[in-house]
Amino acid sequence: MQGNFTYHNPTRLHFGEEAMRHLADELKNFGSVVMLSYGGGSIKRNGIYDAVVDALRSAGKTVVDDAGVMPNPTYGKVLEGCARVRDNHVDLILAVGGGSTIDYAKAVSASAWCDGDPWQKYWVAQQSPSCPTVPVGAVLTMVGTGSEMNGGSVITNRQVTEREGGERIVTGLKRGKVFGPELYPKFTILNPRFTMTVPQYQMVAGFFDIMSHLMEQYFAGSADCTTDYLIEGLMRSLVHSSRIAARNPQDYEARANIMWTATWALNTLLKMGKGGDWEVHQIGHAIGLVTDATHGMTLASVSLPYYRHVMHDGLHQFARFARNVWDVRPDGKTDVQVAEEGLACLEAWMNELGLVMHSRELGVNEANLQQVADAVLILPVGYRTLTRDEVVQILRESL
Ligand code: NZQ
Ligand code: ZN
Repeated sequence: MQGNFTYHNPTRLHFGEEAMRHLADELKNFGSVVMLSYGGGSIKRNGIYDAVVDALRSAGKTVVDDAGVMPNPTYGKVLEGCARVRDNHVDLILAVGGGSTIDYAKAVSASAWCDGDPWQKYWVAQQSPSCPTVPVGAVLTMVGTGSEMNGGSVITNRQVTEREGGERIVTGLKRGKVFGPELYPKFTILNPRFTMTVPQYQMVAGFFDIMSHLMEQYFAGSADCTTDYLIEGLMRSLVHSSRIAARNPQDYEARANIMWTATWALNTLLKMGKGGDWEVHQIGHAIGLVTDATHGMTLASVSLPYYRHVMHDGLHQFARFARNVWDVRPDGKTDVQVAEEGLACLEAWMNELGLVMHSRELGVNEANLQQVADAVLILPVGYRTLTRDEVVQILRESL
């Protein structure tokens, strides 16, 4: 186990088909004005909106409606939410949706009463809030990001310039800020049934997001660490349940297992005693900035080229991944052969789920590849610190 650490996660989770019953009790802990933040309308179609509004009204709350949080939430939308919080003196932001809505709620919470420029302070300078924040609660409807039990808030701040001839130049950043425990949701309702209406494309993208969070934390470090065993267990459960859910999305057991796995995959437990890599996410965010593609698919499109590129730098761990996650038999094989077989198993599983395997399907091409590369944050961690040329090479291989 590397280093010294303190472990504490303050989010209270209510899990299962009856989890919504706990909302009434949770609401007693907050003031009377609740901002109900949600996305493009899926919760109105599947009945979750009505159930939440009923609970809020029965608890005597004043509801401030805050619709239209888009996938890959923008900084512009965050500023709109901030004005709504200030105008209505909001006591609780209740985020009902996927990672985008919960990330947005945390961003609004930290920014509404911020004395400086929130974008510069949090997402560029990576500072902590020095202003009062608004408590956030969550009802999760889409599984993958782990935002329901962490401080992550990934926001897109994009500028688009149209050049003569119709060329579109995208600059700016899609950047994550990991806030401290004061910004974690105070509570999250996790009802696997609420995720059953997620379209197949989004569902499998979420499955890969979970795998990516596990891999980002697994492919780092060299010590024999308990965390690696935890990650392998979660990966095996995810692979097993995702195969069932991809064929039958209505399988409650599989969807419930995956929901629980996603929460533990990124709620800070797995970074204890280990470093992390997170370069796949940086490349994925840059693709998301330029194309606005679905997060999990951006990761799927670059993971294999990235891992094949760094495999020799962390060979022991890639061989371990092959043996312990994919049951690759090592007899008579070199570590390189075993590691390659593990990545081939990963690729086969990804194909089985129907993931996007090429970034060109998301809108990356030779014309905008340099814009994507410009937006990639290169982190000096993991098994290899990439150069910009290597980023370009990986992006080309992902096309
Ligand atoms: O907007 P609505 O109408 O709700 O539709 C959403 C959206 O179109 C739909 N959806 C969600 N629940 C549904 C549903 N449709 C039908 N039935 C339901 N029950 O699914 C679409 C995608 O939702 P979104 O919230 O965007 O997906 P996801 O949970 O994957 O969140 C992605 C965002 O989270 C960030 C990503 O970068 C991206 O911006 N991440 C946040 C992290 C964190 N906080 O720690 C870490 C992740 O690595 C990630 O970067
Ligand atoms: Zn992710």
